[in-house]
Amino acid sequence: RPSSTVIFIFGGSGDLNQRKLTPALYNLFLDGFMPDNFAIVGTGRTEYSDDKFRKHLLDGINDFSRRKDDKSGSWEKFAPNVSYLRMDADKAEDYKGIAKIIQDLEAAWGEHPSVLFYLAVAPQLVPDIATNLHKLKLCKDKASSRIIVEKPFGHDLKSAQELNSLLTSLFEENQIYRIDHYLGKETVQNILALRFANALFEPIWNRNYIDHVQITAAETVGVEDRGGYYEQAGALRDMVQNHILQVLCMVAMEAPVSFEANEIRNKKSDVLNAIRKIKKTEVQKYAVRGQYAAGWMKGAKVKSYREEKGVAPESTIDTFAAVKFYIDNWRWQDVPFYVRTGKYLMEKTTLITIQFKEAPKYAFPPEASETWRANRLTISIQPEMDIRLRFQAKRPGQTMSLNPVDMVFSYNDNYDEPQPEAYETLLLDAMMGNATQFMRDDQVETAWEVIMPILETWESRPPVDFPNYAPGTWGPEDAEALIAKDGRTWVTLPPKKKD
Ligand code: BG6
Repeated sequence: RPSSTVIFIFGGSGDLNQRKLTPALYNLFLDGFMPDNFAIVGTGRTEYSDDKFRKHLLDGINDFSRRKDDKSGSWEKFAPNVSYLRMDADKAEDYKGIAKIIQDLEAAWGEHPSVLFYLAVAPQLVPDIATNLHKLKLCKDKASSRIIVEKPFGHDLKSAQELNSLLTSLFEENQIYRIDHYLGKETVQNILALRFANALFEPIWNRNYIDHVQITAAETVGVEDRGGYYEQAGALRDMVQNHILQVLCMVAMEAPVSFEANEIRNKKSDVLNAIRKIKKTEVQKYAVRGQYAAGWMKGAKVKSYREEKGVAPESTIDTFAAVKFYIDNWRWQDVPFYVRTGKYLMEKTTLITIQFKEAPKYAFPPEASETWRANRLTISIQPEMDIRLRFQAKRPGQTMSLNPVDMVFSYNDNYDEPQPEAYETLLLDAMMGNATQFMRDDQVETAWEVIMPILETWESRPPVDFPNYAPGTWGPEDAEALIAKDGRTWVTLPPKKKD
């Protein structure tokens, strides 16, 4: 368990805190992971009394958390640790309120607590907050004060570099926690266990046996009420630069020698550095963009992206992106990594597919081979959480007839324990001072370098066919072509049978 901790959440009255952060801290509390002494202080411009703020957070827990208030008295024990500080993040003067809270807690607890500043705010506020925290010397204790920065980390390579150089001029790198919530997902963390705790996969995890890799992160929601943010982002920035490239790193990295934060991050950095930069003249060959039209999702009529609140009527922002990457190193040379992500797609699924090469010699009679397929490993990150290894089996009967079957490991069938949410894992890590699952400055910048040629080309050549896909499909036709022209197809798992 972490030592005494106070967590200041900038953007305390915002959506992320209500839906994710406080519910995660409450779950940690229920599971006995919070320190004996802890305080959670939401800060923001909105006026809240402590009680009103607590009520707002309790509503969030009841609406969005995996565990609601079960009226057993736990919330009543948790709530007194939560308070609200009204302040303007850009007024240095207001930070004295923070200093006072820390001082009072120190006196009450009889020890100096760890202090976490969680910046759940619009990116343009980050420099002001960081500068003011530094000015008031609120992070001077390098061992026990940390700053957690939410995505988007910069808007492009240049702004990410500027932000990194500002933050690293004010704090030590080991005080800066750049969060990517995908790295906290159980199923994403399990990729390392699968690959490096089993001797079985490593010998075949390379270009000699793997034909290609796919990563799909599909959503069935539109941009919801985030049109304003999304207009500055788009799918490539929102999902590929961070979540998808981080998952790709877990699939492609070399075996770490230890689980020390910098060791894992070095190995991931190596992958990012080895991703082939797409030439601007070749962007069309390697990347596809899409934007959703009006249509129907599960029986409900939905607006086109351009009709969403906060979106320009002729917006050229991508709500879908697919890219073919190559990793230029010994392990992965010439193995394509196809990735795709989008809003309003057919299914909510995040899926990694490792497609193996075909057997070198096929000795079975021709009729046996009709349904024959090469081996493949699919790792379902969410909402299904399982790993399937596909291989051939003989169908029962007098003929030699084969068909593909799946050997399945399912989390839910194997474990009774509830899955912690990504934010629970990452907040606990941050309280413990473990930065392994957070991004280092160079990782963020290299990830931007990887996508910059695509971003710049897209921005300089507005799409002529937007909107180009209907809700409830798998995105624009060009995304099918991206993989089909290599003689391959996107993998989706059949929806789970309903009982
Ligand atoms: C966020 C993006 O980082 O990830 C959202 O900004 C996206 O647009 C979300 O919906 C997806 O997260 P998850 O955990 O639901 O897959």
